[in-house]
Amino acid sequence: MSVKDAIEWRKTVKIYDDNRAISSKELETIIEAGRMAPSSMGLEVCNIVVIKNKEIKAKFAYDVLNGSNVEKGLKCDTLVCLVGYNATYLVSDEFLRSRLHRNEALDEKKLSETIEKYRQYLENHNNLTSYVDSQVYITTAFMTLQAADLKIGTTIIGGFNAHHSNDLLHELGYIDKNIKHTVLLLALGKYDEKTNGATFARKRISTEEFAKIVK
Ligand SMILES: Cc1cc2nc3c(=O)[nH]c(=O)nc-3n(C[C@H](O)[C@H](O)[C@H](O)COP(=O)(O)O)c2cc1C
Repeated sequence: MSVKDAIEWRKTVKIYDDNRAISSKELETIIEAGRMAPSSMGLEVCNIVVIKNKEIKAKFAYDVLNGSNVEKGLKCDTLVCLVGYNATYLVSDEFLRSRLHRNEALDEKKLSETIEKYRQYLENHNNLTSYVDSQVYITTAFMTLQAADLKIGTTIIGGFNAHHSNDLLHELGYIDKNIKHTVLLLALGKYDEKTNGATFARKRISTEEFAKIVK
C-alpha cells in the first residue's frame, strides 16, 4: 500500500473480530513504526507497553477504559499503552545523559555542558507535559498508519482514566509512575469491513476550510 492508500483505508474501528489474531511479525512491524517516529531534539520521550495477555487486557478494559471503549479493549487483539516521561524526570541528569551520551563527538566535559543546555531549554518550556504528550501523539500516528498498511484496524483511545492506567501499569511493574505517565491507548486488531458499525462513515471538513494555501 502507498501512504496515501493507508490513509484512505484507515478508519477508527468500533467493533473488532476477536477470532482473527495479529501475527508476531505484524506486531513487530507496528512497534518498529512507533520506535522510528520523530522526536523533539531526538530525546525519544515515548515508550509503549504492549498488552497481548488476555487476562491483563480484560483487567485493563474494565478498570481503565470508559464506556464503549471497554468492549473494544476486550475484543481487540492487542492493547498498546503509550506512555511519556514525566516533566520532573525529563529534566533529570539520568534521563538526559541516557539520550545524549549516544553522541560520540561529546567527551565527558562537553556531554555535561550539553546536558545543562538541554535542561535549560526544557525548563524554559511553558508546558513540559504537553511537550511530551504531543510527541506521544506523533508516535501513535506512525503506528496507526503502519497498522493500516498491514490492513490491521486501530482505535486511538483517549476515553480512559489515566490515573487508573498509571496505577495499574505501576502495580503490574510495567512503568514506574513517578517516571512515566499514560498519554493514550491504542487498540489493534483485525475487523470485518462488512460488519455493520465496525467503522463509521468518514466525515471531514472541506479542503478549503482545512487548508489555506498561500501562493
Ligand atoms: C486523540 C484521540 C482520541 C480518541 N479517542 C477515542 C476513543 O476514546 N474512542 C473511540 O472510539 N475513538 C476515539 N478516537 C477516534 C475518533 O473519534 C475518530 O478518529 C474520528 O471520529 C474520525 O473518524 P475516523 O478515525 O474513522 O476517520 C480518538 C481519536 C483521537 C485522535
